[in-house]
Amino acid sequence: MNKNENTKTGVTMEKIVSLAKRRGFIFPSSEIYGGFGAIYDYGPYGVELENAIKAAWWKTMVQKRPDIIGLDSSIFMHPKIWQASGHTTGFADPLAECKKCNARVRIDHLLEDIDVFADEKMSEEEINELFNQHKTKIKCPQCGKSDFSDAKKFNLLVKANLGNFNDDWSKEPTYLRGETCQGIYVNYKNVRDTARVKIPFGIAQIGKAFRNEIAGRQYVFRTREFEQMEMQYFTHPDEEMKEYEKLREARWAYYKELGIKGENLRWSKHKNLVFYAKEAYDIEYNYPFGFKELEGVHARSDYDLSQHMKFSGADLTYTDPHTNEKYTPHIIESSVGVGRTVFAVMCDAYTEEEIDDGDSRVVMKFNKKLAPIKVAVFPLLKNKPELVKKAREIFGALSEQLMCEFDDNGNIGKRYRRQDEIGTPYCVTVDFDTLENSTVTVRDRDTMKQERVAVSELVGYLGT
Ligand code: GAP
Repeated sequence: MNKNENTKTGVTMEKIVSLAKRRGFIFPSSEIYGGFGAIYDYGPYGVELENAIKAAWWKTMVQKRPDIIGLDSSIFMHPKIWQASGHTTGFADPLAECKKCNARVRIDHLLEDIDVFADEKMSEEEINELFNQHKTKIKCPQCGKSDFSDAKKFNLLVKANLGNFNDDWSKEPTYLRGETCQGIYVNYKNVRDTARVKIPFGIAQIGKAFRNEIAGRQYVFRTREFEQMEMQYFTHPDEEMKEYEKLREARWAYYKELGIKGENLRWSKHKNLVFYAKEAYDIEYNYPFGFKELEGVHARSDYDLSQHMKFSGADLTYTDPHTNEKYTPHIIESSVGVGRTVFAVMCDAYTEEEIDDGDSRVVMKFNKKLAPIKVAVFPLLKNKPELVKKAREIFGALSEQLMCEFDDNGNIGKRYRRQDEIGTPYCVTVDFDTLENSTVTVRDRDTMKQERVAVSELVGYLGT
């Protein structure tokens, strides 16, 4: 299969990238300067989609959960945190270069493609040994040849000089956080002591993370700056696996609620667990290049808090108020990228349809909750001030409750096509009858059927 063409879903990378650019969802960063590797900007509809996804996640994870509370920790943290977490030493990807075309490739990914799994803990020598055993079966994704340099491991943390005014700051760097959850671990005691929570409880946060990704050629799937939505749940050691199963169920239900097609989602169990993990599953989505990790749901044992106790000297143990039992809480986590969710939701919504007279349309069938624009308001004719005035009035009223767009450009058919491509569930047209009887035409994105609805009933009809 072409790496960027999913023959099962029919959704290609090119179609998504082109629509996302053309319609203002996602732009390459710094485009007027020729772009900037593996960084993307979210345009007017992209930011709405991101916000809707983050709101849905927060509602499920925090609002509806009495046992989970929110946090917003900083991007910069004490550099020792990254030693405690193992990121300064272990957070490295094995990179090799194709000797024919100079493409940089991730060895662990190429091995994975032929069902050989490298362990994150493997040294450079070990990974090269494994690579050498299978080298002949591996082809460069860029030129198809099979001639690679040895692999070298590159650390993914992004270094910075925050608060360090020496020229040789890189010897004692600070770091842009490589994952948001470390901010949760180091605030665990503050939250526990102030939010009156008892174990089991969780802390959730949404925020930026940074990684010096080597091969950033998978659009917003793997970027160097990205946003994570992470929830860390603190449990009694004996309850960890029971809570883990509950979390897995909850995360699966969340994606079904988002309306992601069941056939495009699957669980994938980690074959090589990091040494401290009890169990690890990923939820994978069927992207244009096949099933790949959307979210990780992992049982992390007491590793994180134990490491932070060791490196900080702080006591992060928990004493059960009823039994007086003292223990180090075990953690289960759910971690997903906003960008990977946007990408999955866009692929899932992308639909090409034949319509009347051999015509066709592209329509983004987003779940209505996630659609960037919930309703578009059109005056039938741009040059009739009374229609424009009425349409503006209706826009003003609806936009109190919903993200709306006003459009008076081009003929109605063209306006519908544009709204279809950005996935707007409803279009409201103000015509001469509106001035007579206070009704409008509401056109449904999916059925394309039109109905006359009283202006006074619009909000209810549009489903707020
Ligand atoms: N705290 C655990 C953690 O960070 P991870 O598997 O490295 O685990 C979790 O990342 C999630 O963050 C992934 O499932 C993915 O959705 C997202 N993610 C990770 N690296 C990313 C990148 N370079 N670009 C976009 N999203 C990324």
